[in-house]
Amino acid sequence: MTNAKELPQYPEPFWRENIQFPKYPKLEEKIKVDVAIVGGGIVGVTAAYLLAKQNVKVALIDAGNILNGTTGHTTAKISAQHDIIYDEFIKHFGKENAKLYHEAQMEAKEFVAQTTKELNIDCDYEEQDAIIYTNSDDYITQLENEKAAYDELEIENELTETIPLPVPHKKALIMKNQAQFHPLKFLSVLADEAVKNGAQFYENTTAVDVEYNKHPAVITRDGHRVICKFVFVATHFPFYDGKGFYPTRMYAERSYVLAIKSKKSYPGGMYITAEQPTRSLRSVKINGEEAWLVVGDSHKTGQGKSTIEHYEALQNFAEAHIGVEEILYRWSAQDLTTLDKMPYIGRIAESEESVFVATGFRKWGMTNGIIAAKIISDKILGHENRYSGLYSPSRFQADPSLRKFIRNNADVAKHLIKGKLEFTDNNLSSLSSDDATVTRINGKRAGVYKDKEDKLHVVDTTCTHMGCEVEWNSGERTWDCPCHGSRFTYTGEVVEGPAKRPLERIELE
Ligand code: FES
Repeated sequence: MTNAKELPQYPEPFWRENIQFPKYPKLEEKIKVDVAIVGGGIVGVTAAYLLAKQNVKVALIDAGNILNGTTGHTTAKISAQHDIIYDEFIKHFGKENAKLYHEAQMEAKEFVAQTTKELNIDCDYEEQDAIIYTNSDDYITQLENEKAAYDELEIENELTETIPLPVPHKKALIMKNQAQFHPLKFLSVLADEAVKNGAQFYENTTAVDVEYNKHPAVITRDGHRVICKFVFVATHFPFYDGKGFYPTRMYAERSYVLAIKSKKSYPGGMYITAEQPTRSLRSVKINGEEAWLVVGDSHKTGQGKSTIEHYEALQNFAEAHIGVEEILYRWSAQDLTTLDKMPYIGRIAESEESVFVATGFRKWGMTNGIIAAKIISDKILGHENRYSGLYSPSRFQADPSLRKFIRNNADVAKHLIKGKLEFTDNNLSSLSSDDATVTRINGKRAGVYKDKEDKLHVVDTTCTHMGCEVEWNSGERTWDCPCHGSRFTYTGEVVEGPAKRPLERIELE
């Protein structure tokens, strides 16, 4: 019998459980629409909903299944409290822009609240306070500075020494009236509505390029074209770069989630630590019963310890403070951070008039994702949007972005070189079932995974994006790239871009 306190064997996000999604076809022909949206997460689905409602002819294509990427793996906080950020944003972007950022998040929250009412969506939407807390003396001043920033921006708040969370804490900053919901219950209704209004959805259809003739066209891996007036690249990591140099302007991080049944009832609120390693908490209803979502332990993709240890760290935290009766689910998420922590939403590059992008939401994709859908829909419809300047991808400020830009690329270069020089001569006979190693086969650096039936799956570990060496991720059983966050199954298929081509498979004689 399995111990209920053990980690579930396979990562499976709770959000997709018990939701019936329609199956959408694969694109098998050339089509012509007004807008081609690539990527079926919160951004793509919301944009399809908004545009189709205005009688715009939309096609949305996704390389896998709709709502199964980052959006399907979120914590689903609808909050404007994005770690300690407003003090930094005031210093970097100025008070007006910091205020605008907060207003954008609150507008996204309002959109969810209104749409939930309007379409009568049962998506467990509930208002909750958002709380950053710390137990470290080093972070108390930072929280006080952040409180001063809230006051300056007229954000309703409270700085306190007592919160009802059974976790040691010295100080906490509360942002009132934020919210949480079940993202897929909400977005699946938006997807249905979009389709009812004429949007065409296609699954298992991988976009590989954008080409121009008279009009832009999205080219699929099978060679089909979606000819359109506008392209919206909403693929988490942009599948098309348009000379926007996105791989050099963002880095990918992974974080981990446990859904836990505890004897302790959840005290209300959505929590996050100020210090690292992050611990983020919210409640969720699973089969009508309250559970705790325990989230955190993030690290740069492909650069962590054995990934199962991150889940264990969360488990230890939960055992120590919350009490674990059962671990119901575990899953992980990948997030992209820009050089200045402000997402890139707008024209993909100055020279590309009709291609738009939305990416780099850090861990805050629910509100930033919705605001991205609104900004780009407004651009396509020719409407003003007061947030578009704030998020414009063409901004590039020397301080502190440039320093990070250089550091980021040094990091990529280090991984490119390190991976190539690494001497590996592991003995495959000692490899256990359900484990992987990196070795050399016929002079090539090869990643070998031995499955539960002891079958070996061997891939060339050279990432097909820009040639860094992928690393094994034991928690998800994937090969992850430390440079820009591409991920591949153990058989080499792309799970997550920017890579578009699978890892080369190596056949063992
Ligand atoms: Fe860019 Fe792997 S993701 S080299």
